[in-house]
Amino acid sequence: MRLRLLRGNKMPRPKISIIGAGGVGATAAHWIASKELADILLVDINEDMAKGKALDLLEAGPVIGFDVDINGTNDFSKIKDSDIVVLTAGMPRKPGMNREDLMQINTKITEEVTEKIAKYAPDSFLIVVTNPVDAMVYLAFKISGFKKNKVIGMAGNLDSTRFRTFIAEELDASVNDVNAIVIGSHSDLMLPLPGHSSVGGILLPELLPKGKIDALVERTKKGGKEVINLLKTLSTSYAPGAGVAEIAEAILKDKKRILSCSAYCDKEYDVNGCFVNVPVVIGNNGIEKIIELKLSSREKKDFEESVGHIRKLIGEAEKCL
Ligand code: APR
Repeated sequence: MRLRLLRGNKMPRPKISIIGAGGVGATAAHWIASKELADILLVDINEDMAKGKALDLLEAGPVIGFDVDINGTNDFSKIKDSDIVVLTAGMPRKPGMNREDLMQINTKITEEVTEKIAKYAPDSFLIVVTNPVDAMVYLAFKISGFKKNKVIGMAGNLDSTRFRTFIAEELDASVNDVNAIVIGSHSDLMLPLPGHSSVGGILLPELLPKGKIDALVERTKKGGKEVINLLKTLSTSYAPGAGVAEIAEAILKDKKRILSCSAYCDKEYDVNGCFVNVPVVIGNNGIEKIIELKLSSREKKDFEESVGHIRKLIGEAEKCL
């Protein structure tokens, strides 16, 4: 009885709804719960799977020590009052597929789900994960009508964390000391930036010869593929899930993190109205600032090519609507 009274009077915790309770959605829930960031609602067309994963995760709470509510549903109206909605619904890649191969099916799902998010959680921040993410986040932005600071594509921070991992491995250094950034499209045309990456404050080109850096850059560009080829029937989930939790934490705790995310750029980088991964400041206003890096002429050219690729994808996505 006393417990019930306490619970009845509790301060509301933040709420994160995750659409899609598959590999990425459930793993994002796992990291969010372990960081005790918010109550979590998993939403999936497969109601039992959403409920089952939510219950399974909830039952880890007493051991791990997190104290958040975790529920599953297929009822979108329950996302009401979410502070953040994460869109992971959609098909993942199989070996031999590019993210672009998911266009047709994921465009339809993104359209349908975004309409429901805009209807039931119009004041939320929206983190988009569904691939090809730079095109899907653009559609979600247009369809939702949300302000540009509230719609964030989770990709550049994931690519950066892969780059950081490979740098640490190569140098036998602590990942905690590795800072690295990847910008551009979430595709083979992404741009890992060694000149803006450092270990313990020492710039990467001072630590490794060009050949080694080039190999790390190439491995990063194919980071997702490397895992998918090993998993065969499953797709990546731990690192993308962690990328979602990283952005959610930055928003909810107003951390002013500088992360590479797919953000709506207009005058910035002369992009002229497109989502692309660039360094942004994330706090409780979502994307609070876009940081313009000084790029070399070669990097500028590659970045423009990357943006051109995203524009092409957006064009294809719009044809699927
Ligand atoms: N509404 C709600 N859930 C949906 C809908 C929908 N309209 N359509 C599909 N889903 C759910 C599926 O039922 C499934 O549980 O989305 C979930 C997707 O899970 P997985 O197939 O495991 O895919 P996952 O690996 O999580 O990847 C999801 O994120 O990283 C990207 O490329 C990846 O586009 C893919 C997405």
